[in-house]
Parts: sequence; structure tokens; C-alpha cells
Amino acid sequence: MRVLIIGSGGREHAIVTKVAASPLVDEVHCAPGNAGIARQAVCHSIADSDIPGILGLTKQLEPGLVVIGPEAPLCAGLADTLRDEGFRVFGPGRDAAMLEGSKAFAKEVMIAAGVPTAGYARFVEYQIAMTHLAAITFPVVVKANGLAAGKGVIIAEAMEEAEDALRTCFIDRSFGDAGLDVLVEECLIGHECSVLALCDGETILPLEPAQDYKRIYDGDSGPNTGGMGCYSPVPRVPSQLVDEIIEMVHRPTVAELARRGIEFRGVLYAGLMLTPDGPRVLEFNTRFGDPETQAILPRLENDLVELMIACAEGSLSEHRLRWKEESCVTVIMASAGYPLSSSKGDVITGLELDGGLPGVEVYHAGTAEEDSRFVTNGGRVLAISALDRTFTGARKKAYDAVGKVHYDGMQYRRDIAAEPARGEG
Ligand code: AMP
Ligand code: GLY
Repeated sequence: MRVLIIGSGGREHAIVTKVAASPLVDEVHCAPGNAGIARQAVCHSIADSDIPGILGLTKQLEPGLVVIGPEAPLCAGLADTLRDEGFRVFGPGRDAAMLEGSKAFAKEVMIAAGVPTAGYARFVEYQIAMTHLAAITFPVVVKANGLAAGKGVIIAEAMEEAEDALRTCFIDRSFGDAGLDVLVEECLIGHECSVLALCDGETILPLEPAQDYKRIYDGDSGPNTGGMGCYSPVPRVPSQLVDEIIEMVHRPTVAELARRGIEFRGVLYAGLMLTPDGPRVLEFNTRFGDPETQAILPRLENDLVELMIACAEGSLSEHRLRWKEESCVTVIMASAGYPLSSSKGDVITGLELDGGLPGVEVYHAGTAEEDSRFVTNGGRVLAISALDRTFTGARKKAYDAVGKVHYDGMQYRRDIAAEPARGEG
């Protein structure tokens, strides 16, 4: 079978790697892909936002499965366009992807479904939002309603910061149109975790949980990023808690969508805060997480292609997930300036370790090939994942591999998975 994967990040490289390992697959294609993916798949330089371009490519390749990685094409309706043409697609249609594309829609669905989440108020007028601030307690979270590429969420400790946040949204228009519609939310305190589940519209199969690191610097300091590292499983989220979260969050959400005639086929990702009062949803994503995928998929024993086809066809109930008894630690290597900016064209050395270290996977994200050398080509450059029986061992392998890579201005956190490793004594 031929499989086409849409996207160009570390998440897509991890998906490509797992898809290429499937005995069902003889050809892997990717649009647009990156320099690392190009070693394992045929890359086509069509942007993931180019829906007519992707449709044309799909018609030309006639793949047995199309996998859509990122949120923007899902929210733009790429899955619907391809399904309407009779293709088998892993990824939700536009209506279901609005759980990620509109935070206000997600809140409304959660309230209708009785899913626990932070209290909020929604504003489309600056002055009314400013007046609201006088009546609430701090801290609060100010969020742009639409897609803002991982930005668009501001935690305001006090009145002044909240006022600044509203100005950033409404007056400076820093998040474009997404910031002209704003949620002001109760700030939740606790540990965050990500619980992703495969879904075929009815059956829900939880993936093992993962712990993402959002801040750029060690000790969770500095600005938020798209994710600087990850580990899986998460000792503080045992399988019994995952099951509770599925019953409390994923199942009622999918049922509420179904009640509205919306079918969810793909990955439903709940970003959660584990508060003293129980888990609360911070956000939904309607796709695999990045870098969660790079820490989850290396541990999955099943054939990912079989599972994705089952999601697309509604036969997920026939499957059980099997996991390696190993921990996975993923360290993101970013480029100079990230997350405020990113740099391009710095030569990356040390990548010959790709495939060379046992238990280590080097996933490319922002890389390109120039004169037969890999160069940086974006903010998050590489994701290095390592498997071992212990977190201590997986951390050592991951950081040993990181230590072999070099490019100017590289940035990475030194404390990924330090906490579960300490827990091992
Ligand atoms: P989101 O894009 O909604 O997940 O927000 C990005 C990050 O902002 C989350 O991962 C949390 O760290 C933080 N965050 C979002 N909403 C809240 C909230 N209600 N309370 C506390 N932190 C939040
Ligand atoms: N790791 C967060 C995300 O994928 O949105």
C-alpha cells in the first residue's frame, strides 16, 4: 500500500518512521516533508495549506491512506475534501477540528457534555472585556479564540498584565483576527499532562500519556514554545487515571459531537491540568501532539497503519493497543532565537548517528539539505528520542545523542524527564 502523510515537522517524521515499518506499506510519500523525512519517504514540495495542490497529489498517487498531521489543514477542511473524493483519511473533518480551531466552540461542547474545564467568559469587544476584569480574581488566562500556532495564551498574574493582554489582542492585533475574539479564563493550578486517544467516531482507544515541556528554559522558565521535550509514560498518570480521564473527557466530548451529527475520526488530544479537584481540560487538539508523538510512537508495538485505517473505517473496536515496557525520553533541539524567531542555514554536524545508536531515533523537524549537508530550517530543528527500561537510561541515551549533534546557536533543555528519573532513585 501507498501512504501519503501531510506535514513537515518532527511529529510527521515520527509518523513516517512508524508507517514505513508497517508490513502493509510499500511506498511512503510526504507533503511537504523535510530533509530527514526525505531519507525515508518521497517528498513533494506542496504546502500543507495548499488544499487543491494536496488534492491533486492525492489523485495522482491514489494512496491507500492519507494521514494529516497538523491542525491548520484539518481546520481548513482537508480531510473532508479528500473523503468526498473517496480517499481513506486519518484525521477529523473541519467541524470536528473546530474543537481545536475555536476555543469558544470547545468550551461550548464541553459545557454541553459536562466535561470539567476552567470557567470562562468570551468577549468580542475590548471595552466590555476591560470592564469584566474589575469583577474577577487573579491570576487569569487570556486566550485568543482561534488558531494562534501555540501562542495566543497569556497568563496574567494581576490587573495590569490582564489589561496589557487585552490590548495585545484587540488593539495591537498581535494574533490577527484570532485575537479579536477572546476568552478570559480561570487560571488552574496543578501538573499538566497530555492524554491522546484514537477515535473512529465511536470507539475510543487511549494512547499512553505523555508529559510535554512548554517553556524554553530549564526549570520551566522563559517563554512558551511549541514544546521543548517530552516523556512517556507519565508515572503520575497511571492507566487507571487515564481510563477515568477517557470516561470524563473524551467519551462525553465525542458523544456530544455525534449528537450534533459530527463524527470524530483521528486523534483527540486533551491537554489537562491535574488540579486538587481532579483533571480539568485546558485545551483540545484534534491531531497528534508535537513532541508527544515522538515520545509515544516509539513505544507502540501495534502496526500504526492498521490502527489508522481502523479509525478511518470505524473498526477500531477490533483492536487492542500494546506498548513496550520501556520509557521514552524526547529532547527537542531548537535553533538560535527560538521561540521569538528562528534561524536558518546553520550547518548541522553529527547526524550520521541517525540509526546508529541503539534505542535512539533522530526525528527531523526544521531541517533542509544544502550541498549534501543538513542545515537548520526553522525553530524546532530536531527531536531526539531514546528508549530504555528506565527513565534514567533513556535520558542518558537521549542526551548522549544530543551531545554528538552540533550547529551554531543550538538550544535545548537539560532537564527533560529529570523528575521521573529522580523518582527511580
Ligand atoms: P492552551 O493552548 O490552551 O493549551 O494553552 C497553552 C498553555 O497555557 C497550557 O499548556 C497551559 O500551560 C497554559 N494554560 C492554558 N489555559 C490555562 C488555564 N486555564 N489555567 C492555567 N494555565 C493555562
Ligand atoms: N505539544 C503541544 C501540541 O502539540 O500542541
